[in-house]
Amino acid sequence: MMDPNEFALGEREFERIRERLYDVAGISLSDAKRTLVIARLSKVIRGLKLPSFDAYLEFLETQGTAADAQDFVNALTTNLTRFWREEHHFTHLLSYVGELMKSRTSVSEKRLRIWSAGCSTGQEPYTIALSLLNAYPDLKRWDFKILATDIDTSVIAKAAAGLYPEGELNGLSPERARLFERAGEGRIRIPQAAMQTVSFKPLNLMAPWPMKGPFDAIFCRNVAIYFDKATQGEVFGRLGQILAPGGFLYIGHSENLGTGSAGFRLVGKTIYQARSHAERARDAA
Ligand SMILES: C[S@@+](CC[C@H](N)C(=O)[O-])C[C@H]1O[C@@H](n2cnc3c(N)ncnc32)[C@H](O)[C@@H]1O
Repeated sequence: MMDPNEFALGEREFERIRERLYDVAGISLSDAKRTLVIARLSKVIRGLKLPSFDAYLEFLETQGTAADAQDFVNALTTNLTRFWREEHHFTHLLSYVGELMKSRTSVSEKRLRIWSAGCSTGQEPYTIALSLLNAYPDLKRWDFKILATDIDTSVIAKAAAGLYPEGELNGLSPERARLFERAGEGRIRIPQAAMQTVSFKPLNLMAPWPMKGPFDAIFCRNVAIYFDKATQGEVFGRLGQILAPGGFLYIGHSENLGTGSAGFRLVGKTIYQARSHAERARDAA
């Protein structure tokens, strides 16, 4: 059998990989990630029929295509996620959207925009869609859209298919499990109404963002955890700019906004509200 870690990774090559990943994706790899790098990139190197990490890096730097550069990033992201992860965020979102729906009564006001930034294989944006459509069927008549983005193109492709193994339902209540369709062969499917609400797009949070916003809510959970403090502050600060005043930002359980906290107030466990324009102006005066 082939050794999955057949390629040795020298100090210099590890450093070059770390630098490249940081420059492209903002991801900081600690020393502890060495084994992970060997395991993940060995597959890519073998696929390219190259003899070593050194040859692979040389290839990437001199003749690799955009697809090779993307494969490098895809191999090194961590995509762990699940439906209703950190479920208190969805409870909060439901009550916030309930309030919004009471206040946005005219046809032109019936607009709701949510961004799942770093959506991985789609469980996060689909949880948003399934919970909201289930609680508020009226949303089907709203201009309601969820943008779901990730730097990793392979997870975006899986997410867009809306098909998951039945095991994803483990731990969900029967009420939640009933929101999925059975697709046969041990698979479950996201119903069409929820699929139609979500648009999946590749997007690197380090790059300029093509959308204007504003978003009523942003989920950016367990993504910035891979960034250094300066990058975290920068990304959260930018999220504050594209969030509607009074809108909410949900972040991962072990994260905080750091230097990006200026436009927000903490309103619950890892839940932040964007301050109004008037509040920001008062602070600046
Ligand atoms: C651990 S998953 C989190 C998924 C989901 N938000 C959750 O909390 O369950 C982190 C995701 O962030 C993505 N990611 C990492 N760096 C990124 C970047 N610079 N731009 C966009 N997405 C990034 C990864 O590809 C990965 O899918």
